[in-house]
Amino acid sequence: MPRSLHDSWTLGGLTIPNRVVLAPLAGIGNWFVRLQAKRYGAGLAVSEMVSSFAVHYRNERTLRELLRIHPDEHPVSVQLFGSDPEVMASAAEQVAAAGADLIDINMGCPVPKVCKTGAGAALLDDPDRALALARAAGRGSGLPVTVKLRSGQRPGEERGIEVARRLAFDGAVAGIGLHPRHASQRHKGKPDYALAARVVEELPVPVLISGGLQTAPQVREAFEQTGAEAVLLARGSLGNPWLFEELLGDRVGPPEPAEVLAELDWVMECAVAHLGEARAARYLRKFYPWYLERLGGDKALRQAVQTAPTLEAARALLHGRAALSLAA
Ligand SMILES: Cc1cc2nc3c(=O)[nH]c(=O)nc-3n(C[C@H](O)[C@H](O)[C@H](O)COP(=O)(O)O)c2cc1C
Repeated sequence: MPRSLHDSWTLGGLTIPNRVVLAPLAGIGNWFVRLQAKRYGAGLAVSEMVSSFAVHYRNERTLRELLRIHPDEHPVSVQLFGSDPEVMASAAEQVAAAGADLIDINMGCPVPKVCKTGAGAALLDDPDRALALARAAGRGSGLPVTVKLRSGQRPGEERGIEVARRLAFDGAVAGIGLHPRHASQRHKGKPDYALAARVVEELPVPVLISGGLQTAPQVREAFEQTGAEAVLLARGSLGNPWLFEELLGDRVGPPEPAEVLAELDWVMECAVAHLGEARAARYLRKFYPWYLERLGGDKALRQAVQTAPTLEAARALLHGRAALSLAA
């Protein structure tokens, strides 16, 4: 029988109800973005990356905001980044106490600020430390650990794959999230699905594929071509939770404009509950274009909503002008 994105699977002893997973998205993947993915069917959601140092040193905002987990989001994975195994063990312990079901470690972030500290993609060149971090996270939390990584630093080398092998064959991880682009490519260029297929074949643990998964046909093709256990939706999910439904066969065709507006209302309410009015007004600016794009590209409206001085003003614009331009 052909494999289906609908099928359940097992990750570190946990049953995941289907194979469509929300990828970690820094500055975005908070509890309500994950909950949204779940509402639309995601089998698992991974948090935005969280600093193991900030958790270890009990940074108040990190604990309150980034480790906040909604009761309806389970199973949920919290992604940590860092370079010190003892700090990682301590942070992982707190992540488990906050209610996470899994821990993911970031070994793919190419941002210099992160790599400079020996974390993120810097770990692709440091297999011993990568292994120590994964083991420490498991020891500290008692939870299954996954690692998300890239093929390597630059085209032509595959040190990330060597790290994946080491982690998997040493039994330090329950699964690998593979973004088969090099760190130097950031998020551009075609992901190397042929390489991913070889890694899937070789590793003794489930591989979750990431990269280039913007539309349902692209996701299905990557799932088939790589043989990966599951798919990680990243940019394709921004302002588009309907992609989860589409992939799981529960939706044909795009959402009605009224559904898009209602969904954005839900996001705005959650942001206020999370951050308060004033901070939510700023935070939501990056969210508006994702939703307004789906409503047809009125650039003037997009700009007006993004620069609205208050949430109330943004709401009025959305429900006045957006509703009007939809009716036209
Ligand atoms: C805005 C943004 C934030 C991201 N944050 C993270 C992160 O915190 N941790 C991580 O492992 N990957 C992160 N990624 C990488 C994505 O999870 C994913 O691997 C990448 O976007 C490739 O998938 P795509 O081409 O389908 O978007 C981020 C990507 C974007 C665009």
